[in-house]
Amino acid sequence: MTKPSETPGVSGDDLVAMDEKYVMRPWPHPPGEPVIVARAKGCVITDVHGKDYLDFTAGYFVNNAGHCHPRIVEAATQQLHQVLQVSGKHGTIPTVQLAKRLVDLAPKTIDKAFFSTGGSEANEFALKMARQASGKTDVAFLENAYHGLTLGSLEVTHAEPYRKTAGRPLGDYTFAIPNAYCYRCKLSTPDKCAVECLDGVEAKLAARPTAAILAEPIQSVGGLAPPQKWWDKLDGIRKKLGLLLILDEVQTGLGRTGKMFGLDHYGLEPDILVGGKGLSGGVGSLAVTCASDAVVSKFFGGTTPTSGGNAVSSAAGLALIETLLDEHLIDNAAAMGKHFAAAVWALNDPWIGDVRFTGLLGGVELVADRATKDVLPKKLVGAVKDHLHTNGMLITVSGTYGNVLRLQPPLSITAGQIDQLVAALREALSTVRQGV
Ligand SMILES: Cc1ncc(COP(=O)(O)O)c(C=O)c1O
Repeated sequence: MTKPSETPGVSGDDLVAMDEKYVMRPWPHPPGEPVIVARAKGCVITDVHGKDYLDFTAGYFVNNAGHCHPRIVEAATQQLHQVLQVSGKHGTIPTVQLAKRLVDLAPKTIDKAFFSTGGSEANEFALKMARQASGKTDVAFLENAYHGLTLGSLEVTHAEPYRKTAGRPLGDYTFAIPNAYCYRCKLSTPDKCAVECLDGVEAKLAARPTAAILAEPIQSVGGLAPPQKWWDKLDGIRKKLGLLLILDEVQTGLGRTGKMFGLDHYGLEPDILVGGKGLSGGVGSLAVTCASDAVVSKFFGGTTPTSGGNAVSSAAGLALIETLLDEHLIDNAAAMGKHFAAAVWALNDPWIGDVRFTGLLGGVELVADRATKDVLPKKLVGAVKDHLHTNGMLITVSGTYGNVLRLQPPLSITAGQIDQLVAALREALSTVRQGV
């Protein structure tokens, strides 16, 4: 039966069928996906059948101030009447202003901003800048890291299934060093940790012509926030060896972690700082590679990305930053992350192994057994996700073992909306368990 449509002249079912027929997707999608969205406002999205979802993906961690925030819509609309796009060789008023805003907000090591159109591309520019500035070829990245899907960014992405998508062997100029997956640490316990996971890393970095370490301050895949001493040790090693630090804040930036940047949790001062996702306020296609004067002085880009620094996205990005600050959304992210963690732990569910939130970055790691920490099989994790989905909670799954429910709503989420998710999670976990 044809369901009512949110769009005049074409039914929801027809749109879903057209999507299936004409739109190419990167993987076979699970039941209930894709959700074809007709409208979105704040933390709620409405699909073409009129079904509402609380969006715990924030449009893939982009709409930090909530979907279609009036201030962002207004800024983008005003800009639409002024100028849309000029060559990256030139500039527009909002793009210049956004560059200044970002440099002002970033640590003192950052002096200039280079705009491109997506996080993967911005990371590729970071790799180029680091190599050009240092005259060295190799870049270290963290185990479990995701830095994008283009060929260059895949070389600093760890998971084999992603790397394989290149369809050919990736280059030899990048290598992985350990991340801080403290929940599954086999070397120590939190109270006795002497950051043993980084033993041997100095020698590994020194043995090659290493230009830089590229990392997220807090690893988004799985929501892994290292302890301060982990970053102190790694940063100390890289300073001793004279390596550049590239921080990928595509996901951790712009308030998501309860501070403006993830680096603010650790006092890190990168040579290169990468941003994207929320930077466009949801208007899309805006990313940035910021760098120190020392790096900038050696940078030769060759040419500019055609639409890098799009005027409408920049105007929206500026409005996003002011909205985050004026509406105290970064403080809200910090408070709601704590509320979320407490509420999920309070479920005391045997499948909940770990709850990790830094602000609103993170989620819930599901295990089959709390004592052994055996990973909950993917099929069951998928069933929990599907159950939430059916009940109007849009989430994604992430983590090294694909067992982390990633719960990253807009930063404007309320405690009441989080409580709705937690209630739905309680039901989803017990329903799926009963079926085992
Ligand atoms: C940390 C991080 N870096 C880079 C990227 C790639 O960004 P994009 O998808 O805009 O190319 C992502 C995307 O999820 C990301 O999470």
